[in-house]
Amino acid sequence: MNIQRTLSIIKPDAIKKSVSGNIINMFESNGFKIVAMKKIHLSKLQAQEFYKEHSARPFYGDLCDFMCSGPVVVQVLEKDNAIKANRDLMGATNPSESDEGTIRKMYGDSIDNNAVHGSDSEDSAKREISFFFSELEIC
Ligand code: RTP
Ligand code: MG
Repeated sequence: MNIQRTLSIIKPDAIKKSVSGNIINMFESNGFKIVAMKKIHLSKLQAQEFYKEHSARPFYGDLCDFMCSGPVVVQVLEKDNAIKANRDLMGATNPSESDEGTIRKMYGDSIDNNAVHGSDSEDSAKREISFFFSELEIC
C-alpha cells in the first residue's frame, strides 16, 4: 500500500452548475477518503500564486481569471496512490479527449472550463495541500 494525499479543487464552472455534490460522490464511491474540505472564493493574487508554474504560458491570464470567477471547493483526498488515482478519475485536461465515466467527460465543458483540478506529483500535492490547509484542518 502507498497511501497518499492529493489536493482536489472543484472549479467555479462545476459549482455554478450545482454538480459539486455529484463530484464529491464520485470521489467517495471510488474509494477516496475526504480528509479536509472547504468552500472558498480565491482572490486573483491567490489564483496567480497557486498556478504560478504556468505563469509563462499563454493561457495563464485566462486560467487565473477563471479560477477567481466564483467559489471553489478544495479538498484533500486520501487513498492508495491517490495522486494518479485522482488524475485517472478526472480524465484528460480537455473534456473532449477524456474517457467515458471520468469527471471531466461528465461535467467539463471545455479545456478552460474543465470542472476539477488535481495535483500532478508528490511535490505538487505537498505544496498545494499546504497552500490551502494547515495540519490541524486535516483529519
Ligand atoms: P489542472 O492543473 O487544473 O488540474 O489541469 P491539468 O493538470 O490537467 O492541466 P495543466 O497543464 O496543469 O493546465 C492547467 C489548466 O490550464 C488550462 N489549460 N489551457 N488552452 C490550453 O492549451 C490550456 N492548457 C491548459 C486548463 O484549464 C487546465 O486545467
Ligand atoms: Mg495541472
